[in-house]
Amino acid sequence: MPVLVVVGAQWGDEGKGKIIDLLTERADVVARYQGGHNAGHTVVVGMDEFILHLIPSGILHKGKKCIIGNGVVVDPAALIEEMDGLIKRGIKFDAGLLISGNAHLIMPYHKAIDVASERLKGNKKIGTTGRGIGPAYADKINRKGIRMADLLSPERFREKLTINVGEANFLLERFYNAPLIHQDEVYDEYLRYAQRLKKYITDTTLYINEAVAKKKKVLAEGAQGTHLDVDHGTYPFVTSSNPTAGGACTGLGIAPNTIGEIVGIVKAYTTRVGSGPFPTELENAMGEHLRERGREYGATTGRARRCGWMDTLIVRHAARVNGFTSIALTKLDVLDTLDEINICVGYRYKGKLYREMPSDLEVLEQCTPQYITMPGWKQTTIGIKKYAQLPKKARNYVEKVCRLCGVKPSIISTGARRDETIILEKPFQKAAKR
Ligand code: GDP
Ligand code: IMO
Ligand code: MG
Repeated sequence: MPVLVVVGAQWGDEGKGKIIDLLTERADVVARYQGGHNAGHTVVVGMDEFILHLIPSGILHKGKKCIIGNGVVVDPAALIEEMDGLIKRGIKFDAGLLISGNAHLIMPYHKAIDVASERLKGNKKIGTTGRGIGPAYADKINRKGIRMADLLSPERFREKLTINVGEANFLLERFYNAPLIHQDEVYDEYLRYAQRLKKYITDTTLYINEAVAKKKKVLAEGAQGTHLDVDHGTYPFVTSSNPTAGGACTGLGIAPNTIGEIVGIVKAYTTRVGSGPFPTELENAMGEHLRERGREYGATTGRARRCGWMDTLIVRHAARVNGFTSIALTKLDVLDTLDEINICVGYRYKGKLYREMPSDLEVLEQCTPQYITMPGWKQTTIGIKKYAQLPKKARNYVEKVCRLCGVKPSIISTGARRDETIILEKPFQKAAKR
């Protein structure tokens, strides 16, 4: 079972990009299975920082196949911009990139509806990235989406576009009072994109399954995080796809029994961008400290991330719905200077103590988190590569968090760079053995 899935355990931005880049060294294929350019995955190589949105974070390694799977929604303009940005920086990937013909397209009306709908919601807005993600997935589920392969057939593309622009313009004009979309301009623009992208469009499901049959190592890259999952997250304050591990099967067309390892990426504290409940949020100087030391500003929109303490209820819930075989604990170094560190072990609401994450948003929004307090280690852990070299109190923190979440660490990250990492268990070993 040669597939290893990487999943965010919290609300995204856990450091998936760094860990995927690291694991890619041992992989043959890296495949994104959901989301779109709402994602921002940062990879730091030496002094260079790359932020990947749609292209798998494995692209920086030579000789690996990078796949954009059928479960992803693709804005071709954003994809081409990202490709050009990489080419400018000397990254060659021509033979290495494949895009599923079944991946749905994000169209200009999706973006227009996303932005207009958020505006209309006022203070009830979700805080989306404004990239058209929700409306594109809505069309997919509503069976009127346009897919990458449709771009290769101009007549079919025009037929679908005519129907969809007609509907979208009705909504934009009558409901949202927003500017209209010009169909002919979109048609010409998208056919230009087709010329550029056609050589990458293929049957990626066949490709991945052949790779699996040849026992090649496949790394499935999740975007966002478990609590942004449309089924398992804090609905409706979620994204419109399934970042959870099951999404890798539907989003790539691989069978569940091809998966050997599921690595949850867990930040040593918690962050969230956009609206929605966040029980351990710190709207004070400590939250500000985590934001500044952790450089918690969005890799996609630049928005300040909301910051708070580690919440073991949300990570335990993530371990449950994903079946983490291990976790990568990231950004431990951000806690280096603290005297004391809190860990949330329960929520109290209306006299009741919750030990497991409730799905009721009212409880999540209004509960009082119950903490245990650990002493800080107050020395630098930046760049430490061996577990034994971590201060005793840092090891105590790691072990306490893992015990409370019911997970086992395979990787601990002590800095943004590739080499600033403690590897406790080599990836793909279980995948190969099973
Ligand atoms: P992703 O969306 O899950 O890939 O995460 P982002 O890239 O949006 O955000 C994670 C941020 O933390 C990036 O700026 C990374 O470079 C940085 N980062 C990742 N791991 C570590 C770490 O262990 N320590 C520190 N200090 N920064 C890290
Ligand atoms: P990565 O992959 C953090 C959030 C948005 C918003 C909600 C819905 O970098 O971890 P959308 O535009 O998807 O409809 O917005 O989801 N969101 C993310 N938050 N990291 C991400 O991706 C996110 N992608 C979407 O802020 O709250
Ligand atoms: Mg991110």
